Amino acid sequence: MLKFLTIESTCDETAAAVISEDLQVLGEVVASQETLHRRFRGVVPEVAARQHVQTILPVIDLALRKSKCTPDELAAVAVANTPGLAGSLLIGLCAAKSLAWAWNLPLIAINHLHAHVYACRVAAGVEVFPCVGFIVSGGHSNFYRCDDPLTFQYLGGTIDDAAGEAFDKVAAMLGLDFPGGPAISRAAVHGDPQAYQYPRPFTHRDDPLKFSFSGLKTAVRYSLYGQGRPVVDPTQLSPQQVADVAASFQQAAVDCLVSKCRQAIEQTGLQTLCVGGGVAANRLFRAQLQQAMQEVGATLWIAPPELCTDNAVMGAIAIEKYRAGRFESLDLDIYPGLER
Ligand code: KG4
Ligand code: ZN
Repeated sequence: MLKFLTIESTCDETAAAVISEDLQVLGEVVASQETLHRRFRGVVPEVAARQHVQTILPVIDLALRKSKCTPDELAAVAVANTPGLAGSLLIGLCAAKSLAWAWNLPLIAINHLHAHVYACRVAAGVEVFPCVGFIVSGGHSNFYRCDDPLTFQYLGGTIDDAAGEAFDKVAAMLGLDFPGGPAISRAAVHGDPQAYQYPRPFTHRDDPLKFSFSGLKTAVRYSLYGQGRPVVDPTQLSPQQVADVAASFQQAAVDCLVSKCRQAIEQTGLQTLCVGGGVAANRLFRAQLQQAMQEVGATLWIAPPELCTDNAVMGAIAIEKYRAGRFESLDLDIYPGLER
């Protein structure tokens, strides 16, 4: 059975996994930098890169030890080289290239967004392609037509902020923790989702397959602090106000996401939707999407929450590239920019 080492360092998680050809996870490690970035309420690129330098080799070493696999048993080394933060991507790529060279193994490039969709394939344990792939994370809200695991055609997505970015910024306005998604969900439990009427752009039937979350962020800010006032002071908010805004915002964001998923299925005629990325861990989204997909008669795969946020297991998509003979030379570079 062939075994693969996969490496992930695109943003603020340092992760490595050893995965067998039949998609069994033999060993896996995710070192999160969440606590490091919390006080900045967002990922600081330079801080992230420096932390990856510290953790990348121990993380790879631990993943190998957990899997009880030695380098001579590996078939290839794979690494996410696009998209992401430049400094973060470079650390993973340098580690992967060095190991591929030292161990005389082929090098495989992973597209981080495609890998988020592939997390569904790993978790499902059965074929999920062809499908609509939907990545809803801190940096992206993208739809793809995925005819097979290596053919991703961009269908549409956000014209400004990603959904996760909106969760993180609204959480900051409410004085909640980073990352904002889980904090908003927790606060929303005691709130009224109807308390505030926030906008839901592009949700009419004939609208294009697009999202816009920046106006939603602004609407939340105005509802809390009024228009034109520069001061954002969460200490003046009551716990009930925080809960109501969190619930109303979450409902508006989820309504946009679910409406577009339904549209993507109807528009493509595909029967399966695969969803990945951090925001896909949101419970309200999962429940409402499940119901919407039942209504349109589509099969829904959402990765389990631990495979929604960044990890190296989803890098198993490299095994598909291995089978297709798609290898890289050691001058492989990073591509930080928005990859469609
Ligand atoms: O996929 P991910 O780990 O990293 C990126 O590639 O961006 O996603 C992180 C994003 C953050 O914006 C975080 O607030 C959001 O996913 N997130 C959630 C939840 N858990 C994480 N958003 C909504 N609800 C959640 N439960
Ligand atoms: Zn991600």
